[in-house]
Formats: sequence, C-alpha cells, structure tokens
Amino acid sequence: MKAAELLEYSEKFKLQVVDIDIPEIKPSEVLIKVVAASVNDIDNEIGRGELKNIFDYKLPQILGSEVSGYIEKIGDDVEEFEIGDAVYTRLPIRQLGGFAEYVAVDMDYIAKAPKTLKLFQSSTVPFPALAAYQILVDRLTVEPGKTLFINGGSGSFGSGAIVIAKAMGLNVIVSGNRKFRNNAMILGADKYIDYKVLDYTQVVDRVDYVIDALGRDHFEDEMKILKTNGDLVSLNGIPDNAFAKRQKFGWLKKHKIKKMSANVESKSDEYRVKYHYVLSRENGKQLKKISEIIDKTDCIKKIKFERGVFKIEQINEALDYVKKHHTEKVIILF
Ligand SMILES: NC(=O)c1ccc[n+]([C@@H]2O[C@H](COP(=O)([O-])OP(=O)(O)OC[C@H]3O[C@@H](n4cnc5c(N)ncnc54)[C@H](OP(=O)(O)O)[C@@H]3O)[C@@H](O)[C@H]2O)c1
Repeated sequence: MKAAELLEYSEKFKLQVVDIDIPEIKPSEVLIKVVAASVNDIDNEIGRGELKNIFDYKLPQILGSEVSGYIEKIGDDVEEFEIGDAVYTRLPIRQLGGFAEYVAVDMDYIAKAPKTLKLFQSSTVPFPALAAYQILVDRLTVEPGKTLFINGGSGSFGSGAIVIAKAMGLNVIVSGNRKFRNNAMILGADKYIDYKVLDYTQVVDRVDYVIDALGRDHFEDEMKILKTNGDLVSLNGIPDNAFAKRQKFGWLKKHKIKKMSANVESKSDEYRVKYHYVLSRENGKQLKKISEIIDKTDCIKKIKFERGVFKIEQINEALDYVKKHHTEKVIILF
C-alpha cells in the first residue's frame, strides 16, 4: 500500500511516499480501507519536531491523525462492527498512520460515520470535534445556560465546537473571520464577532468558559473576560500539569511541562481563573455521540466549507496548503 512517512524531523521536512505492506490486525482491531485522511496543523508541528518533547516517534513514522473509510477486515474479538461499515476515527497520537491506503485501529477508537455527511467529509470531523467534546464534557462538565466564548472559532475546530456546545445548551459567542459569519450562524452561534471589525474585549464580559483556538499571545485578554473561577482552555498553547498527568508522562517530561506552564499558571492565579490544555484523544464512544449530534442537528451539510483535495503523492503540497490556507479543510482522497 502507499503511505507517507516522516523520515527525519526538520524545519523543512518532507514526507516520503513509500510502498509498504498492508498492516496485520490484532484480535481487537479492524483494518480500514481509507477513503479520506484529513491534513491538520498538527501534522506540520510533528514533522518540524515541535512536539518532540511530548511525543517522540521512532522514525520512519506514517503521519496522519484522522481518517474515514470502510472496514475491510475485523479481528476475532471485534464487536459492534462489520466488514463494509463506513467508519471514522481519530487515531491514537502515539500511533498515527492516517496517510496510508490502509490503517489498523482498535475497535475502541472507531465509530460509524455520520449518515448525514459524505464519507470523505467525515474524515475532517474526529480531531477537532473530539477536542470540543472532551473540553466541554471531560474538562469543564459544562452546564446548560452558561456562556462559552470561542476565540478563533472560524476554522474547523470552531465549526464542530459550535454544534456540540449548542447541543449541550450553552450560549455561544464566537470571534472569527468575516467569511465564516454566515456558517457560524447556521451552525447555531448566538453571537458572532468579526475580529477585524470589533475588539471582543469591548463587548464580551464575564463569560463562564473561553476556548482559545489562536495561541498563547491571546491568553491574557481571554482571562480578562472570564468570570472569577471561569475556565480558559487552550488548544495549541502551553500544556499544563494536568495534561502531563493524563498522558502518564514520566518525571522528566512532567518537569519540562511544569517549567513551560509556570507563566500561564501564575497569570491564571492573578486573574483568578483556571487554565487547561486539551489535546484530543482517540475515543470511539465519544465519536459515536458526535455522529448522533451531527445527524440530529443536520446542519453541517448546509454550510459550505472551502476544501483542498489532494492525492497521497501530493502530500507535501497538502501540508504546505494547510500552513498557508488556515481556514480550509484539507484532505487526501484515496
Ligand atoms: N488540541 C487539539 O486537540 C486540537 C484539535 C483541533 C485543532 N487544534 C488546534 O486549534 C487551532 C485551531 O484549529 P482550526 O483548524 O480551527 O484552525 P484555523 O482553521 O486556523 O482557524 C482559526 C480561525 O481563527 C481566525 N482568526 C485568526 N486571527 C484571529 C483573531 N485575532 N481573532 C479571532 N479569530 C482569528 C482565522 O481567520 P483568518 O482567516 O482571518 O486567519 C481562522 O478562521 C489550530 O492551532 C489547531 O492546530 C487543536
């Protein structure tokens, strides 16, 4: 099968498309014939070695975090799934392997793809939607009627997060680019702020939760608009100590993360808010819930995403495209 491998970490890394054996499956795994694999910022971050402190892969490593496709083989212990099922998955961060014609994955990490989306579209859902779900359910245990502000909510994370947050009964305010306004309103946002026109700190105040999709330079302003004891969750900022604990890191990695997060932890004390870092984890049960939310609300198909579509041989162009065109969904179609 064709697969795109990382051979060495480098600022200017290139993946190499190789021809390798189709993976064998374990009794608890399924073999997915990949229809589409989504390309994300994190693939570039991994290739450049930016996550080496946290996840150091034994190279060569096939990259790719999320895929959709059909089950081609099932292991002896697999329940709930059958050959031919249309499924999607966020692959375990320690495993990856989505940029390949086939991937073997544990039954616990897959779910049937939403019926209301085309299967190739589903490949762009698991990574951001699981992040949103895990933030709202596992980290914050949100309560209906409370207010969530998403800063930078006009990308693929925002589109999933708005739908899931509305399904949980939250008031949702989004700051993002001009062209996403219409989509955000279709998805259910209560208020949308075009960040180039209005400074949200002038109109948003005392919210219960903030999700930051932009990065550490925005944390202080975000802390200012939270209620006392409110929660700020970062998607791509600085890992916190709780994250290190969840990942079951050893002493050295925990120590590094403690040093990295000291500044943001002290800022959050100053503003009397709580800081969290979330990296979405594989979870088939939660993905099943996400499929149900998508099918019930049935709104994602009504919005128009710009999309970059590439073949596996063009994987390096696709990775460059993600770097340059932030808001587009980029997929490798097999
Ligand atoms: N931790 C996790 O598990 C996880 C999961 C999913 C995503 N992520 C990370 O989360 C981040 C967001 O993901 P994404 O795919 O949604 O990214 P994205 O497509 O780049 O979306 C970010 C959006 O924010 C807008 N924006 C830029 N500057 C802004 C500002 N000052 N105020 C408000 N909006 C602004 C951008 O609009 P313009 O067009 O104007 O630039 C863009 O539409 C990425 O860094 C991604 O790696 C993490």
